[in-house]
Amino acid sequence: MKYTAIILAAGKGTRMNSTVHKQFLELDGYPLLYYTLQAFEQSIVDDIILVTGEEETAYCRTEIVERYRFRKVKKIIHGGAERYLSVYQGLCAADDSDIVLIHDGARPFVTDAIIERTIQAAIQYGSGIAAMPAKDTVKIVDEEQFSVRTPARDRVWMMQTPQTFRYTQIRQAYEKVLECQSQNITDDAMVLELASHESVKIVEGSYYNMKVTTPEDLLIASAFVKKYKKIKKGIDRI
Ligand code: CTP
Ligand code: MG
Repeated sequence: MKYTAIILAAGKGTRMNSTVHKQFLELDGYPLLYYTLQAFEQSIVDDIILVTGEEETAYCRTEIVERYRFRKVKKIIHGGAERYLSVYQGLCAADDSDIVLIHDGARPFVTDAIIERTIQAAIQYGSGIAAMPAKDTVKIVDEEQFSVRTPARDRVWMMQTPQTFRYTQIRQAYEKVLECQSQNITDDAMVLELASHESVKIVEGSYYNMKVTTPEDLLIASAFVKKYKKIKKGIDRI
C-alpha cells in the first residue's frame, strides 16, 4: 500500500497579517514549513506532494526541499485560489496512491502517532480525521449574531489535519463536489460527507497539533517548538 501526504502551503495567510506568508515565517531558526515536512519525511508515509503558490515554488524547492534534503518530496505543484482547489491539485498529482493524507502546511507539530492513527482508521473505515474535543462551549449563531443552539460540549470536536482517506474515494468525492459546489468547503471530511453522505471517522489528534492562523498563534508556536524538539530527541513526551 502506498501512502502519500499532500502538504498544503499555497495559502496567503490573510488572518496572519504578515508580509511573508505564514508557512514561511521563521520559528526557532527554521521556516514553519520545515517542521511540517520534517514530520512527514521521517514518518511511515512513502511520498510527499508539496502544494505551493506559483511564485513560491522556486523558493520551496531550493531553500526548503533541497536545503534540508527532504527526499520524500516527489512533486512541488501549484495550488489554487481556495484550500479545496489546492487539495484537488494535490489529489490529481497523487494518482498512484492507495491512501492519501491531506495536511495543512501551517500545522507544524504533527507527530508519528497522529499520522499512524489516521492511516489505520483510513484503512479500516475509509477515513481517519485528526481532531480534539472542544475546550470552550460552542454556540451556533444566526446572521445577527444571536445564539441559536448550544451543542453538548462533549460532542463537539475541533477538526485538525491530517485528514486521511482511501485515494479513490476522496478523489471521486472531490470531483462530485467540485461540479456542484455551493458552500464554502473548509475541510476534506466535509467533501466526503457532502458527496457520499457517509460519516467520517474521527481519531485523536493533539492540542499541540495547532494550526498557525493568527498573530498570537506565533507566540504559542514558539513555546511549543521547544517542547517539540525535546520530544523529537526523546527527552520529553506529550
Ligand atoms: N492553503 C492552500 N491553498 C489555498 C489556501 C490555503 O494550500 N488556496 C493552505 C494554507 O497554506 C495552510 C492550509 O491550507 O497551510 C490551511 O489554510 P489556512 O489556515 O486558511 O491558511 P491561509 O488560507 O493561508 O490563511 P488565511 O485563511 O488566513 O488567508
Ligand atoms: Mg484560508
